[in-house]
Amino acid sequence: MDYFLINGGKRLRGPVEINGAKNAALPIMAASILCEGEVVLHGVPDLADVRTMEVLLNKLGVKTTRENGTTLRLKVEDEMNCHADYDLVRRMRASVCVMGPLLAKRRKSQVSMPGGCAIGDRPINLHVLGLQGLGADADLVGGDVFLKAKRLRGAELFLGGPFGSTVTGTANVMMAATLAEGTTIIESAACEPEVVDLANFLNACGARISGHGSPRVTIEGVKELAGGEHTVIPDRIEAGTFIIAAAITNGELRIRNCRLEHLLAVVDRLRQVGVNIEREDEEVVVSSARRLEPIEVTSQPYPGFPTDLQAQMMALLSLADGNSVITEKIYPDRFMHVAELSRLGAKLRKEGPTVIVEGVKRLIGAPVMASDLRASAALVLAGLVAKGETRVNRVYHIDRGYERIERRLRALGAEIERQNESEE
Ligand code: EPU
Repeated sequence: MDYFLINGGKRLRGPVEINGAKNAALPIMAASILCEGEVVLHGVPDLADVRTMEVLLNKLGVKTTRENGTTLRLKVEDEMNCHADYDLVRRMRASVCVMGPLLAKRRKSQVSMPGGCAIGDRPINLHVLGLQGLGADADLVGGDVFLKAKRLRGAELFLGGPFGSTVTGTANVMMAATLAEGTTIIESAACEPEVVDLANFLNACGARISGHGSPRVTIEGVKELAGGEHTVIPDRIEAGTFIIAAAITNGELRIRNCRLEHLLAVVDRLRQVGVNIEREDEEVVVSSARRLEPIEVTSQPYPGFPTDLQAQMMALLSLADGNSVITEKIYPDRFMHVAELSRLGAKLRKEGPTVIVEGVKRLIGAPVMASDLRASAALVLAGLVAKGETRVNRVYHIDRGYERIERRLRALGAEIERQNESEE
């Protein structure tokens, strides 16, 4: 198993290019199931999760070919198999994104129900409710959700849940509705840029979707979708992670391929902390004052502060000059990083979905354990500034969502090495 060794205390400096968004690429790849023709996607990051989605699509009869590093071609060759099995779904929850496309195109889908994961209970009831609303019959047998429908009919659907809208749930229902008869209205749709990117891709293939990016999305069903060519949006969470890396190391980064308009809540909070974030031509330049102000931050559905940057923000605020308050409104149990950051000397007190962060003068390196993708990013950030050596174990979590992060950090001046336990 790989781990990172980080020798903290180096200021990061220089340019860094942001890759295409994992959470946009995955549902768009799944959407290729709907298409008659070839799909050509540009800006597809080379990540473990993307490779898992390729394996799943291959099993479902979609041929995938990678070209020039970031271009992926997808073409349906066989429509017999409609089963996303437990082995793949448990490895990657985003596998559920094939549910809507399989149902709409092949009239049935069998997708293993994802279990719990390190960030808490993650149900898919809203996905299933939405697809039932379009006319599907649903059954749960042997841990698999079976959906079938002779035909789907447009409907008015409410997709809000106790924690707000659902990102992949909106994606699933939107994809299915593109081939339904008549018009579908999704109320309380997720407004995340990744949902907008998916809608733009589907429209490029001949779908008729409007209102995406707002809580009310309208989909007029069409008979078929052709193929299409599309460039995936830059990853706002990866960009946010590098912005925080600049801030925590008191460095200066020039971030390329970054859509600041997707990060307004993050920019707002970070400016309060004392981080300078300016757009200069095609780059976003980030630098930071030595003194970090404490703040309050609450994760919310887009355009609020993203839950996927909550852990990284906690690493930064653990070094602020005073007490900060972090509240998690999307996944109230997404706090596995609290105990690990504490091992580095962060002073954190968890009370329900809130963590009080008492700023300390310095963090001190230690062995820590990555528990999920974003928690591991937070541990790497903390390691970059901690005094001495930090060993981050189980970095396969970070490989799911950040492409060759250690090489990119090293190019910016960090001392970070990937090692393998079996080589010791
Ligand atoms: N929820 C329900 N019922 C459902 C679906 C969701 O109650 O049927 C609840 C969830 O438990 C949660 C909230 O609604 O409290 C939002 O969950 P959502 O469905 O929006 O999450 P997701 O679609 O499963 C995506 C990202 C996550 C990101 C969340 C929130 C992908 C592939 N995943 O998950 O990304 O945290 O939206 O923004 O797009 C990550 O990249 O590290 C990651 C976990």
